[in-house]
Amino acid sequence: MRLRLSQQATELAYSVFLVVLIPAAVIGSTLWLTSQVKSNFDLELRRKANLANEVFGVSVANALRTSSTDQAAQTIQSLIDESRRHAPDIEQLSVAVPDADKFKTLASSDPAKPGRSDESIQTQFAYSRAQSVASLIASGEGESRQWLVATPVLGPDGQPIAVTSMRVSLHAADELMASTLRTTFIVLAVILVVIILLLLNHFRFVEYAELFRKQKELDQMKDDFISIATHELKAPMSVIKGYLSMILEEKLPKAPADMAKIAYDQTDRLGRLVTDLLDVSRIEQGRTKYNIGSVDLPATIGPMMGNFEVKAKDKKIGLRYAPPENLPAVKADPDRVMEIFTNLIDNAIKYSRTGTVRIEHTVSPAAVMTAVSDTGIGMSPEEQGKLFQRFYRAKNDDTKDIAGTGLGLWIIKQYIEAMGGTITVTSEKGKGTTFSVLLPRVTPEAPQTD
Ligand SMILES: Nc1ncnc2c1ncn2[C@@H]1O[C@H](COP(=O)(O)OP(=O)(O)OP(=O)(O)O)[C@@H](O)[C@H]1O
Ligand SMILES: [Mg+2]
Repeated sequence: MRLRLSQQATELAYSVFLVVLIPAAVIGSTLWLTSQVKSNFDLELRRKANLANEVFGVSVANALRTSSTDQAAQTIQSLIDESRRHAPDIEQLSVAVPDADKFKTLASSDPAKPGRSDESIQTQFAYSRAQSVASLIASGEGESRQWLVATPVLGPDGQPIAVTSMRVSLHAADELMASTLRTTFIVLAVILVVIILLLLNHFRFVEYAELFRKQKELDQMKDDFISIATHELKAPMSVIKGYLSMILEEKLPKAPADMAKIAYDQTDRLGRLVTDLLDVSRIEQGRTKYNIGSVDLPATIGPMMGNFEVKAKDKKIGLRYAPPENLPAVKADPDRVMEIFTNLIDNAIKYSRTGTVRIEHTVSPAAVMTAVSDTGIGMSPEEQGKLFQRFYRAKNDDTKDIAGTGLGLWIIKQYIEAMGGTITVTSEKGKGTTFSVLLPRVTPEAPQTD
């Protein structure tokens, strides 16, 4: 029982693990992938802006080398206008030259800038280090991001003579990225739905596997039952047949009365088996009749004790039943009550080697509990878990020589529950067992009010 529970818990934990892990892995990998693509995209654009700036720088260097500053400014301005016409992503393009210890804008796509001083750090940095500087800037909340690339223009001696600054908008790239992300998330959502459906299916498979396991267990119990029932039928029949043939052949090893008694007991055993089988089929078809009335438990159980005296004495087992006087009556069918306690006392003697079988009552406001306890072989927790299943019999060295069909407890449990009661068990292997039957009182005590 505990084993099965822990197996079920493992299966559940595994399924929950799948439900959490798989979608988390898919979401995580998608986010990581898109962020990678985005930063690669940014880097690629920066590289392109750098390249464009360098190519543009060559034309600027030519213009500065071959003509006067004013003429060069005009040539560069027309180069800038031309470039912007062909590349609308270029937001701004300017060329600055050193002027005293500052920089002056020579030509720019912004008509306000030529002739003005250029104080940008990027320009100063690119000039002083003679290398390109690129920075990613966002013009404002929700506005497009831009790469600002400042590239030094080198003179014939390899020294910087000017700085080109280009601002490239990432607007188109960001739009493209956003639409790719949207598509990715839609695909991700679809994948998640598919995964969840598959996982739900997986749960159903787990359920089917559990059902299949239960079915197999029941089949196994039925097989066991058939072999037990066959044995239970055959054993008394061969004893009866043996004694009858001895009587017929007039070979009398015992007194005829003793032989008849043995044969009679065996027919009793057969009768019990047939009764059990009929009870099972009646319960299963809902045909059991209950004549519910007021049952005086000591008056019902007391006389039954005599039936067990011989059996108990044979095994040197003590039988103790000392009911209190004025025990409240219970609401039940007297015949079923007899069957219930016959079965429990029979089991208590049958599954004990020695010791004492006790029957005790405990009264509560609404019910009477009757405990049948023994000091017998007891049961493991796993055996206790299956005890009330149809056809179940504990299989171990202690029980292998004890006859039975595994129906008794199942039958009485159905009776007890149909009469509004409960049956519970406590047992310890090798120490003993107690079955407690709770039946409702005919007149429950009114709750006490202070
Ligand atoms: N008092 C007990 N002590 C130890 N084991 C018990 C006790 N009562 C029942 N069992 C275990 O529970 C199993 C089921 O009991 P149940 O009375 O249903 O069937 P049975 O005694 O095997 O056959 P029958 O149908 O003839 O009563 C038994 O086979 C036995 O293993
Ligand atoms: Mg029994």
